[in-house]
Amino acid sequence: MSYQKIRKAVFPAAGLGTRFLPATKAIPKEMLCLVDKPLIQYGVEEAVAAGCTEIIIVTGRDKAAMEDHFDYSPELEAALEAKGKQALLDVVHSVSKLARIVYTRQPHPLGLGHAVLMAKEIVGDEPFCVLLPDDIVDAKVPCMKQMVEAFYETQSSILASEVVEGDAISAYGVLDCTPVANNPRLLDVKGMVEKPKFEEAPSQNAIIGRYILTPRIFEMIEAVKPGAGGELQLTDAIKMLLQHEKVYGFHYEGKRHDAGDKLGFLKATVELALKREDLGPGFRDWLKEFPI
Ligand code: UTP
Repeated sequence: MSYQKIRKAVFPAAGLGTRFLPATKAIPKEMLCLVDKPLIQYGVEEAVAAGCTEIIIVTGRDKAAMEDHFDYSPELEAALEAKGKQALLDVVHSVSKLARIVYTRQPHPLGLGHAVLMAKEIVGDEPFCVLLPDDIVDAKVPCMKQMVEAFYETQSSILASEVVEGDAISAYGVLDCTPVANNPRLLDVKGMVEKPKFEEAPSQNAIIGRYILTPRIFEMIEAVKPGAGGELQLTDAIKMLLQHEKVYGFHYEGKRHDAGDKLGFLKATVELALKREDLGPGFRDWLKEFPI
């Protein structure tokens, strides 16, 4: 069986963002800014760098800010042009030209699996990427690009995974897996456990917010029984997918930040700002003086 090229990326962005209240009361979490870019733009740029040409954003309440961000801004552009601010005009233009973006709505936040299911008609019968915008992966080769390359080898669903030490593993979906002999980055997945106790975790390989899924996943999500709060879990659907197809874990090269959490967001802000050519030196000097 040969698959088509991966062209589509789904961004579930309809969660309530309760860990970031009150900031997320009227603004979607995905629009919080790391340095000078909203979280979702980091993800969209990563998907485009991986070769995706169609971006599907699953929105909930307050979707206008996201739509406006990726749309043309005639008044702003005219004002920048009139002032001769070409560099800023280029920045604004480049956001609206990133990719073809379509929006679909998740009427109620019924879980990540449910959010992905909302994209079923738009994705159709082809493999696709899923990026959770609050996971920011800082990498030389964009994480999703690494995964797409691995997909072209395996032709199977791939879940990005990170080794998590100690008790912290209990916050993740965890893979029951064995290494693949001829590719040190790949893990052969046999099962997975959602948020296990430390002593019951099948491995240290946590699933993070980057997936490539075959279209059969939609059938699986539809078959999954809702869990607590009526939520449809994506991991339950992937477990079911395992009964039909191979699924791989993937150790990407790069550093992930959980920007959906206040402390993770602060750490990501500092690390990304320090790496910026325009801001890094000044910020570093200031940090050195800072009395901690
Ligand atoms: P999270 O659990 O990190 O997001 O879901 P959340 O529910 O918004 O955050 P907290 O825990 O209340 O702070 C991961 C991703 O899945 C999306 C979220 O928007 C986030 O990008 N999601 C989650 C949906 O789109 N729909 C849902 O029903 C649940």
